[in-house]
Amino acid sequence: MEFIDSISVDDFQNLHITLGWKFLDNKLVKKSIKNSMIKVSCVENGKTIGIARVVGDGFTHGFLTDVIVLPDYQGKGVGKAMISYLLSRLQDYVNKNCDEFMLELTPTKDNANFYVKCGFKHKPEMMEGCYLWLKNQNIYKQGSKKYVMHLQKTPFENIKCGKKTIEMRLNDEKRSVIKENDIIIFIKIGSNTEYLKTRVKALHKYKNFEELYKNFDKISLGYAKNEIAKPDDMTKYYPKEEIEKYGVVGIEIEIIKKR
Ligand SMILES: CC(C)(COP(=O)(O)OP(=O)(O)OC[C@H]1O[C@@H](n2cnc3c(N)ncnc32)[C@H](O)[C@@H]1OP(=O)(O)O)[C@@H](O)C(=O)NCCC(=O)NCCS
Repeated sequence: MEFIDSISVDDFQNLHITLGWKFLDNKLVKKSIKNSMIKVSCVENGKTIGIARVVGDGFTHGFLTDVIVLPDYQGKGVGKAMISYLLSRLQDYVNKNCDEFMLELTPTKDNANFYVKCGFKHKPEMMEGCYLWLKNQNIYKQGSKKYVMHLQKTPFENIKCGKKTIEMRLNDEKRSVIKENDIIIFIKIGSNTEYLKTRVKALHKYKNFEELYKNFDKISLGYAKNEIAKPDDMTKYYPKEEIEKYGVVGIEIEIIKKR
C-alpha cells in the first residue's frame, strides 16, 4: 500500500459512485481537486482504494472531506493510515506557511469515532455539523432533483447525437418518483467519466411496452432506420411479471446545453 499526493478525476468519480454519493460534473471535480490544499490517494497493486482531501483558505482554516475507502478494504486500517499520511503532509504545510491551523470536518452518520481514533477531538458538547446545498438555478428548476442512470454504449451514443429522445424503463419505485424538469445523469457503462446531463421534458406512462411503442417513432426510442422495433426487445431487461406489476415509462429527455 502506498500514498500519492494527487487524486484523479476518474478515481474520485469511481469512489463516489461506489458509495452512491452525489455524482458531480467532471470539469468541476477537476477544478475542485486542483484547488484542494492537500489531496491523497491510497494505492494498492496499482488500484486506488482510498482518497481524502483538505480544502481551505490556506492559512488558518481547512475542512477534511471526501474521505473514502472502498468497501472491500474497509475495517483493515487503510482509512487510519491514509488520514495519518494526510495529516503528516498537512503538518509539513503548516510548518512552512501558518501559525495555527484549524482542521474541521462533519462526520457522516456513525463515523465520528473513526476520526477520534485518528487523533481528532469532538467539538464542544458534541456539536453536530450542518449543511446547505446551493444549486445552480440555471440548471435546477424549483424543487427539481437529480438522478443517475447507467446506459450501454449504443443507447448512450444515440442520446448523445440527439436521435434517441425517449428512455424506456420500468415504472417501478425508483422511476415513478421522477418528475418533469428533474435532471438525469446518464453514465456510460464501463466509464466513470463519460456522461450526459439531461433534463426531463415529459413522462409518458403506459401499461406495457406494446402501448409505448405505438406512440413513438422507432428512432426516438433508439433504433436505427434498418432495425425492426419490437416491444419484446425490452423483455431482455425486464421480466413480463414486473412489466405487468409496475407498467412502463417513456422518459422524454433533452440534453442540457453546456454553459
Ligand atoms: C470511515 C472510513 C473512511 C473508515 O476507513 P476504514 O479503513 O474502514 O477504517 P480503519 O480500518 O482504518 O479504522 C481505524 C480505526 O477506526 C475504527 N473505526 C473505523 N470506522 C469506525 C466507525 N464507523 N466507528 C467507530 N470506529 C471506527 C476502527 O475500529 C479502527 O480502530 P483501531 O485502529 O483502534 O482498531 C470508511 O469506513 C469509509 O470509507 N466509509 C464510507 C465513506 C464515509 O462515510 N466516509 C466518511 C466521511 S466523513
